[in-house]
Amino acid sequence: MPRKQLTAFVLAAGLSTRMKSEKQKTLHEVCGRPLIFYPLKALQDAGIHKIIVVVGHKKEELQSSIKKYFKNIIFAPQKKALGTADAVKAGLAKFKGENDILIINGDAPLLRHETLEKLISFHEENRADISLISAEFKTPPAYGRIIRTGHNKVFKIVEEKDASIEEKHIKEVNAGIYCVKSSFLKHAIKNISNKNKKNEFYLTDLVSFSEEAYVYKTSNNLEIFGVNDRKDLELIRSQIQKNINEKHMLNGVTLINSENIYIDNDVEIENDVTIHPNTHLKGKSKISKNTIVESHCFIENSEIGEGCHIKQSSVIEESTLKKNVTVGPMAHLRPLSIVEENARVGNFVELKKTTLGKNSKANHLSYLGDAHIGAHVNIGCGVITCNYDGFQKHKSTVSDGAFIGSDVQLVAPVKIGKNAYVGSGSTITKNVPENDLAIARTRQTNIKGYAKTLKKIKGFQKK
Ligand code: UD1
Ligand code: CA
Repeated sequence: MPRKQLTAFVLAAGLSTRMKSEKQKTLHEVCGRPLIFYPLKALQDAGIHKIIVVVGHKKEELQSSIKKYFKNIIFAPQKKALGTADAVKAGLAKFKGENDILIINGDAPLLRHETLEKLISFHEENRADISLISAEFKTPPAYGRIIRTGHNKVFKIVEEKDASIEEKHIKEVNAGIYCVKSSFLKHAIKNISNKNKKNEFYLTDLVSFSEEAYVYKTSNNLEIFGVNDRKDLELIRSQIQKNINEKHMLNGVTLINSENIYIDNDVEIENDVTIHPNTHLKGKSKISKNTIVESHCFIENSEIGEGCHIKQSSVIEESTLKKNVTVGPMAHLRPLSIVEENARVGNFVELKKTTLGKNSKANHLSYLGDAHIGAHVNIGCGVITCNYDGFQKHKSTVSDGAFIGSDVQLVAPVKIGKNAYVGSGSTITKNVPENDLAIARTRQTNIKGYAKTLKKIKGFQKK
């Protein structure tokens, strides 16, 4: 049967008790995506587009999260989490047709589309009522045990809680991934009872009602791993992160101590980029060729041009850096900032909704908010745009070639003309025309010998 005729059920209505969380289990995020994203993506990559997700616990949040990434998913509500078989019943209520059904647990994010494709072909070869995936572990996790009748054939699956001591010694476990004939499923599901230790309707009991059940053993054990608690979540995270980082390394990106580099799914990195440890690249960020990102940087939803150098402990959010820009150490680019070619943002400089023009510099201890700064501008140490008057934000404009001395406050709204010069320590409240010099501070007065008098008044004694 062509894959596109298959329907997939994804079970994601469980209570997620073991996560001890207010959030539905599959909404926990790993590398910038909720867990549920991963199995759905694997289905899509396997060419399966008819997908029914069974939802229950916290279903509104889950549905809206899924809709962000996938179109045309059908949601089947399960009223109460009575077990995996009951979840499949809920799925069947939304299922029309006679095609085969692929059923997967929503909590297994490492599943690859290649493995799903293998199971589907395997199912087609055998034309069994049900085919499923298993894996063998030296020390099996608390999963259902596969009791075989012979080569490739399963007699039944015993859940860990219901297993005898002998059965617990079985090392082959159930992955929670099944391909079933819909005619068989519709009929057999009615026979499943909840007479077991968990008083749940176990989907795994389907095997006992089948004429023939086939098992396909995968050698990739990790792939079947389901997230039940936070320890599992961390194991899965590190594996997904490893996969992402390896992909970048193979594409020509140098990751130094890659285990401590955190890169989200959607991040694009060109070749010859070097990333140092403890750096986080998040959301939809792009890092272009020959850029260096030093350690402890945090870059989110930002575009970094070619040949940039982002020095230690810098934070860049929703911003754009053009070619050959230097940022940091310890700089903070807040949303909607643009740093043009060859510009420099130095230590303890904060930009917010600000453009810093080509070849301009703001090298030390500045706050530039709601500002447009032209090309070849020098922003001295400690310059501040006073952009907020307690009611609203105002813009500062600094035109090309201007020089802003150290410790200047630009009280917005204000415009500094082309090639103008603002003296250090000025509080600028009026526009400065092109080529003018502005100084806005009181003139210095020197009072002859008065330092000595002061010392006497204060009772200061020279030792
Ligand atoms: C299940 C299998 C077990 C297998 C393991 C692999 C059963 C009875 N057991 O156990 O054999 O080794 O997966 O990971 O199926 N769900 C619902 N509605 C419910 C209950 C669960 O939608 O009423 C969903 C959960 O959200 C989850 C999936 O079904 O995504 C599996 O449920 P879970 O409780 O995690 O099953 P396991 O105990 O892991
Ligand atoms: Ca599970």
